[in-house]
Amino acid sequence: MAERRHLLDIDDLDREGMERILETARSFAEVLRRPIKKVPSLRGRTVANLFYEPSTRTRLSFELAAKSLSADVLNFSASTSSVEKGESLKDTALTLEAMGVDAVVIRHPVAGAPWLLRRWIGATVLNAGDGMHAHPTQALLDLFTMRERLGDLEGKTIAFVGDILHSRVARSGVKACRAMGMEVLLVAPPTLMPPSPMPGVELITSLDEAIPRCDVIYMLRMQKERQQEGRVPSLEEYTRLYQLNVERMAGARPGALVMHPGPMNRGVEITAEVADAPYAAITSQVTAGVAVRMATLFTLLGGAEGGGDAG
Ligand code: NCD
Repeated sequence: MAERRHLLDIDDLDREGMERILETARSFAEVLRRPIKKVPSLRGRTVANLFYEPSTRTRLSFELAAKSLSADVLNFSASTSSVEKGESLKDTALTLEAMGVDAVVIRHPVAGAPWLLRRWIGATVLNAGDGMHAHPTQALLDLFTMRERLGDLEGKTIAFVGDILHSRVARSGVKACRAMGMEVLLVAPPTLMPPSPMPGVELITSLDEAIPRCDVIYMLRMQKERQQEGRVPSLEEYTRLYQLNVERMAGARPGALVMHPGPMNRGVEITAEVADAPYAAITSQVTAGVAVRMATLFTLLGGAEGGGDAG
């Protein structure tokens, strides 16, 4: 039997591996547009969603993806489980293992938690976000969305804007965009820039300077829950300098795309008008998430060998 495959960070995949998942996701996106949005590819397989942090989009999207592949799904969230009674991540993992789950999707506030899980259990592990570290399926769904709207990404420019310091979305996104040959700008106040340099990216503190250069303006949520250190003088000041609003969008290239991983703080990093404009691909990102997560589960679990097919 082939070795278990995992997706812990985006650099587990080379460009070809990413291309394959994006290609598979296209056929699943087609399935999801049918009246009956289901294929038998992972029938008889069990996927557990292990969420130790609040999540709407990512959790629902993994659940729907697994169900659309006909897998059985177990949902575990920290607030309703024995974690409240002090059960450790390891015991929970071993419990799932003993029940014979095939894949565990984990979101955890501690960076590196998915790597521990991989050591402890034999199931396939998918990282759905660990601390401030990585969020590989978000990076893949973002690539998918950009491809759909912009075509070939080689040589295109993307700016990740805002709370980069705390953003696992940006950390995985930068790597994915670089692998696809994109130019990457990081736009933030110096206090919200990453502590160590990221190779091949340009740091800019002025959003107004960055906007005219971009094919994609990727807004990040201001992570108030990770801001105890007081990294911005005030939210008002931050909003004045870094909010994406229609006035700033007037300086954008025609056809430039606005993205955001959600959840949005409307009125902080982005205005409602921009978030709901036709040049915003934010709901397309959510739609892409289901197809991309189907493709990821299918690829890692070797659905084809199990007798199903992507179409
Ligand atoms: C992000 C996350 O949780 O990392 N959201 C998501 O997965 N859609 C970004 C965020 O919380 O700001």
